[in-house]
Amino acid sequence: MSFQLGLIGFPIQHSMSPWIHQQFLQQAGLEGSYKRIEIHPHTDFGVEISRLKEQKLLHGFNVTVPYKQSIIPYLDDIDQDAQEIGAVNTVVLRNGQWIGYNTDGKGYVSALIANYPELAQNKQKRILVVGAGGAARGIYYALLSEGFSQVDIANRTIKRANEIAKLNKGKTSTSVLTIKEAEDRLADYDIIIQTTSVGMKPNEQASPIQLNHLKSTAIVSDIVYQPLLTNFLQQAIDKGAHIHLGHMMLLTQAQLAFQIWTRKSVALDNMSKQLKLKLEGR
Ligand code: ATR
Repeated sequence: MSFQLGLIGFPIQHSMSPWIHQQFLQQAGLEGSYKRIEIHPHTDFGVEISRLKEQKLLHGFNVTVPYKQSIIPYLDDIDQDAQEIGAVNTVVLRNGQWIGYNTDGKGYVSALIANYPELAQNKQKRILVVGAGGAARGIYYALLSEGFSQVDIANRTIKRANEIAKLNKGKTSTSVLTIKEAEDRLADYDIIIQTTSVGMKPNEQASPIQLNHLKSTAIVSDIVYQPLLTNFLQQAIDKGAHIHLGHMMLLTQAQLAFQIWTRKSVALDNMSKQLKLKLEGR
């Protein structure tokens, strides 16, 4: 069979997902294609998505901004994790039904552990999640599922951080902090995860938090990958800390989605290096 895959979102002209999934198809020895299906926010999403569903041409697709929540009413079933996170980034057609998953947070955490394998053995590390949007929600949920015992959330708007903290069923200790409080207590944290879009091109000078009190043994991670070296990560480097780059999450969420669609496991091999070069425009 030939796998018909794709990406729904807006804007997606510059998405790296077609390149990533083409590499996976080749590696798995499968026929298929992965196409961009741009749905403009000015069009009726319900009409567009219903048409796509009736056509039954896609075996699976990714969903990105701004449709990760609006896709949910059009699914026939939803994985429990995606349901709790409240967002879907992967849909598979199975027995004529659309089933939704979320591989973002899980992908993020598996990339972080692959980069810092000692984390698999030490779940007592103190983690700070910066931001409380959709990305933060998926990552926070995946950190809880992985068994990390202390995960705090800092956000500009406290109410949104409190909403995310409700995902906690009591196994993890979570405090909600203002950005100022987090900045003052930064030396308490072993891992700091930046989940907002602040610092993304063309606002490269911006950072949602200042890392003056960072300890040099900390791991500092950003989900922004345009640019790869954000202001936030540069501050971490200046403090002598360890960093984790944003493009890894892009690869690992894709790896998990590909497995859902094709039931094949693929390796990332040297794709991280290749993707880095592509993102740097080389
Ligand atoms: P997404 O779903 O893509 O994560 P989002 O839901 O709009 O996007 O969330 C964006 C996150 O970035 C939020 O944590 C937001 O903070 P607020 O909840 O206070 O809005 C954060 N954010 C956006 N712009 C920011 C800025 N200039 N400074 C600090 N935080 C910012």
